[in-house]
Amino acid sequence: MRFSITNKVSWIGKIDWELRRFHGDEYSTHRGSSYNSYLIEDEKTVLIDTVWAPFGREYVDNLKKTIDLNKIDYVIAQHAESDHSGALPFLMKEIPSVPIYCTAAGAKILKGHYHENWNFIEYKTGDTLDIGSSQLVFVEAKMLHWPDSSFTYMTGDNILFSNDAFGQHYASELMYNDLVDQAELYQEALKYYANILTPFSPLVTKKIQEVLSLNLPVNIIAPSHGIIWRDQPGQIINKYLEWADGYQENQITIIYDTMWNGTKRMAEAIAEGIKSAAPDIEIKLFNLAHSDKNDVITELFKSRAFLVGSSTINRGILSAAAGMLEMIAGLGFKNKKAAAFGSYGWSGESTAIIQERLKAAKIEVLEPGLKVIWNPDEDGKQKCFEFGREFAGRL
Ligand code: FEO
Repeated sequence: MRFSITNKVSWIGKIDWELRRFHGDEYSTHRGSSYNSYLIEDEKTVLIDTVWAPFGREYVDNLKKTIDLNKIDYVIAQHAESDHSGALPFLMKEIPSVPIYCTAAGAKILKGHYHENWNFIEYKTGDTLDIGSSQLVFVEAKMLHWPDSSFTYMTGDNILFSNDAFGQHYASELMYNDLVDQAELYQEALKYYANILTPFSPLVTKKIQEVLSLNLPVNIIAPSHGIIWRDQPGQIINKYLEWADGYQENQITIIYDTMWNGTKRMAEAIAEGIKSAAPDIEIKLFNLAHSDKNDVITELFKSRAFLVGSSTINRGILSAAAGMLEMIAGLGFKNKKAAAFGSYGWSGESTAIIQERLKAAKIEVLEPGLKVIWNPDEDGKQKCFEFGREFAGRL
């Protein structure tokens, strides 16, 4: 499929409606995704990024129906991750000597993935490429979110090709931000930021400020996933600045895993306590064993504070809670307070283990945590209620 964005620029990617898991099994994509490749036809013909390998053949066949491949002067690989570079082996078989513009790190990664000596031309921030009446300006965006990530700005049409930044795993045939359901779009953009970009938030702020300081007019932001921002593209830049700055909403999230519902009952009683102390706070509960981990991360990202509960098992914690704590540690949330709780039968280590893992993740832990033996009785539930009240009071 080819879709015109301006007189010179077309979208030539793949909308993947079936995708439900991304990054292996690490990211849920309830609304599919797209791999956005862009074709620029000025005096020179330029291809920016490709698509994921399973669609590589289809992509090249489609491209052939659109243009004579021999007309392509430059390929730009803004990012070497397979979802954007996967079609390169198919494409470069047809046009092996066409230069691939990328960062130095990009060339290394592409060689590491595909073991091909393509004609790499490395760019740095500020390097330009004249393509006729427009010019392409390259901007390295190291660690947003890979070492090779980069953006390309096109003068004339004033388009920022931002690769993963400002993207969403969101399939839509409507293509543009102003045409799609705004709640869905916001949800997917936020989930994408929370799960992918959180660890790099200081770099996000710095990079946005760097790009803004260039005072380039931006009419369109064209990311490599999801819809294209043509209506007030500055809105997603502002959202990123907000999300990168210790973002929180007025929400407390309680996450837990439970064997025989003792820890679940604790979670519910703690929620009651929070509600009685702070009726205006949004409180959300998730049983981790039954919840989508990326949706939970999104809720934690939005939270002022959160509580983590697990029963004790084999002197440890339940596996869903352990997995979530691993994700929390990796993402490096800032500006959040947390506490631990859990029911137990005899040894009762879970609360202390959760606290240690939260501290190791540099989360501010409100101690002491709470443990209750077996199934909480009325007294146990009252302790949970008071624990919740106290937790809300300490925020
Ligand atoms: Fe969409 Fe980092 O790849």
